[in-house]
Amino acid sequence: MPINRRLLLASRPEGIPGAQNFRADTVEARAPQAGEVMLETVYLSIDPAMRSWMREGTGYQQGIPLGAVMRGGGIARVLESRAEGFAAGDFVQARLGWQTHPTLAARYLQKLDLSLGTTEDWIGPLGLSAVTAYFGLRDIGGLRPADRVLVSAAAGGVGQIALQIARIEGCRVTGIAGGPAKCAFVANDLRAHAVIDHKAQADLSAAIGRACVEGIDLYFDNVGGATLDAALAHLRAGARVVLCGRISEAAAAEPYGVRNLGKLAAAHGRMQGFLVFNYHARYEEARIWLAARLRDGSLTQRLHILEDLKQAPIGLGMLFRGENTGKLVVRVADASV
Ligand SMILES: NC(=O)c1ccc[n+]([C@@H]2O[C@H](COP(=O)([O-])OP(=O)(O)OC[C@H]3O[C@@H](n4cnc5c(N)ncnc54)[C@H](OP(=O)(O)O)[C@@H]3O)[C@@H](O)[C@H]2O)c1
Repeated sequence: MPINRRLLLASRPEGIPGAQNFRADTVEARAPQAGEVMLETVYLSIDPAMRSWMREGTGYQQGIPLGAVMRGGGIARVLESRAEGFAAGDFVQARLGWQTHPTLAARYLQKLDLSLGTTEDWIGPLGLSAVTAYFGLRDIGGLRPADRVLVSAAAGGVGQIALQIARIEGCRVTGIAGGPAKCAFVANDLRAHAVIDHKAQADLSAAIGRACVEGIDLYFDNVGGATLDAALAHLRAGARVVLCGRISEAAAAEPYGVRNLGKLAAAHGRMQGFLVFNYHARYEEARIWLAARLRDGSLTQRLHILEDLKQAPIGLGMLFRGENTGKLVVRVADASV
């Protein structure tokens, strides 16, 4: 039996999570029972929401008990199957946990359709971050061609896809990102019409005003807090604000407290949050659309890859320090072996 290396939640985070919150152990991988599959994890997605799962009690998902394997989604290869429809060598997507060799019930697995893209595509531009961008913009944001769109954390996993979908649909897109290298990526690779380096601004609202001279029809917000406030000041009539995430507030002791809601009312705008998991029944629709844009070259995505399971806790902290460019993932095993 292979050895299953695992990372267990050891303590609840205060501030930015990191290696101090986890404990490593090893156990023998469990042989599959009827209806189960033994897997080898290939990629793990590292997501800001993980910090909220590490808290006690319930948020939008039950908190992870101390001592349990850290929750996390990713891509794995089937090593041994006792479930119909799965065979050794298949690739699946599932909530694998931070472990190298999980054994899971087949009903929790989705077999990858590799005609849509490679295993890397399935953790990247066909993965849940990309699907989040798709439904957030379309279903929540009511994206229309020629909208003036602003996207925060535009060089990140969700943001880079949101920005490109809006551009592909004929919108004028502005991205906000932290630092010159990320801004160059947003301008040159993602082909935004304008970019704002939030780290170089004494007054972010004024910078948004200069970059979005006609105002904003749709703000796709990955950041919350002061960035949301700054964007609200520039809404056009009938604007839509998509509350995708609030990473700037996630590790803070106190919520920020948005001040510019009057601007939303004055613009007779609409602000709405969402959870991608609620779109589960429609993931395929998003993936077919995204795969077609990957094939025709209009969509690109950068993966920020960390090597080995032990990097996962460090990676989680990187998201909150803005140290990732692109979708952050951990490669646990080689997909091609
Ligand atoms: N609604 C849903 O179902 C759903 C699903 C997935 C993700 N999300 C949310 O989407 C957002 C993006 O997630 P992701 O996985 O794609 O992460 P990401 O954008 O790849 O990484 C997070 C980025 O946020 C920015 N950031 C971090 N702290 C910040 C701060 N204090 N102020 C301003 N910017 C800050 C950094 O970019 P810069 O260096 O460019 O500032 C950082 O690189 C998160 O809020 C996440 O919770 C929501």
